[in-house]
Amino acid sequence: MILGVLREVFPGERRVSLVPAQVGPLSKAGFRIGVESGAGEQVGFADSQYAEKGAQIVSRSEALAADVLLAVRWDLPDEAANEAIAASRTGQIVIGMWDPWNHREMIQRWAEKGAVSFALEFLPRITRAQSMDVLSSMATLAGYRAVILAAISLPRIFPMLMTAAGTLTPAKVFVIGAGVAGLQAIATAKRLGATVSAYDVRPAVKEQVQSLGAKFVELELEASAAEDKGGYAKEMGEEFYRKQREMMTRVLAQSDVVITTASIPGKRAPLLITAEMVRGMQPGSVIVDLAAERGGNCELTKLGDKVVEHGVTVFGPVNVPSDVPYHGSQMYSKNITTFLQHLVKSGKPQLDGDDQIIRETMLCRDGRVVHASLVKSSTPV
Ligand code: NAI
Repeated sequence: MILGVLREVFPGERRVSLVPAQVGPLSKAGFRIGVESGAGEQVGFADSQYAEKGAQIVSRSEALAADVLLAVRWDLPDEAANEAIAASRTGQIVIGMWDPWNHREMIQRWAEKGAVSFALEFLPRITRAQSMDVLSSMATLAGYRAVILAAISLPRIFPMLMTAAGTLTPAKVFVIGAGVAGLQAIATAKRLGATVSAYDVRPAVKEQVQSLGAKFVELELEASAAEDKGGYAKEMGEEFYRKQREMMTRVLAQSDVVITTASIPGKRAPLLITAEMVRGMQPGSVIVDLAAERGGNCELTKLGDKVVEHGVTVFGPVNVPSDVPYHGSQMYSKNITTFLQHLVKSGKPQLDGDDQIIRETMLCRDGRVVHASLVKSSTPV
């Protein structure tokens, strides 16, 4: 089978879906690999590095004609999406991240061309799929990067220092939402010497927060029903969020840095920090809202921008993993390679609907959109 690795054309995207180090393992697995010229440029990989590993450097139209297409993002601007869909054909396999719930119409058009497409965001959170889990990989980098952004912007340093010029007290960091990104934010802030505390609606998380040396903030909220069967948070209702905001106001006022990561799959992120709460914070404090792309956890967040209000800086960063394209590409590439090795055995795609990994990631095949959450038009909670 011929594998096509595309140069990313999404505005600002710097990652690549396959790094040169993965060319060897995939060639051994029987793939012939065509890499679009310039695909790795933004990461720092020259075409020659792919060629040395045995890949062929091809034009965009040649890459688009491959049997299996790889990209980081398929939620492409119209012109690029039209080009790729026009070049597609029955049975072509298309793998990557799609932001599927927001791109139903585009996925329908791929289906009509007969493509068999897979969204890696839909991988089940099961042990078997851990090495393919792009959401975890990218959230890990986002959590790290959010803390670095905050550390650079804060007018204080993170660690405690006892110097001849006096004692500097450590920065206080509060992390809201201790999933993959939140836990990495906690670990990074701890490594930099901050005093860290965190809160999550899922009570199961308390132990993980404490094992990283952070304090779990106890809010007197009834959150025992906050976790669904898949381990994700459930939407809690406005009354719950109102109480949560009320109880967090005091914690925010005592924090120098707040990293928010709270989200609910398929829903708008819960609003957890109001403008009023920001007003109660110390001037110079920093909020990094990692939920910005899903509507934001802070009322003042401006997507892709920095806002300063009452002396508090609020960041609403976009596509954070793309800011660390080297490791973002390395992790994505490893994830997609493992997925491919699971999907294609002895040169034949195993489109086995009984396999949970295949069933839950497949968006379309045989001319139809088949993913349950897209067919029902509702989104799973
Ligand atoms: P996510 O990105 O969907 O959400 C981030 C965090 O925000 C979650 O921990 C969630 O509980 C929290 N949250 C939601 N509403 C909140 C609120 N009102 N206040 C405070 N926090 C709130 O979550 P992520 O990081 O994708 O992880 C979801 C789950 O999946 C976790 O249980 C994680 O351990 C599990 N997981 C399992 C894997 C596996 O078994 N292979 C791999 C990765 C994650």
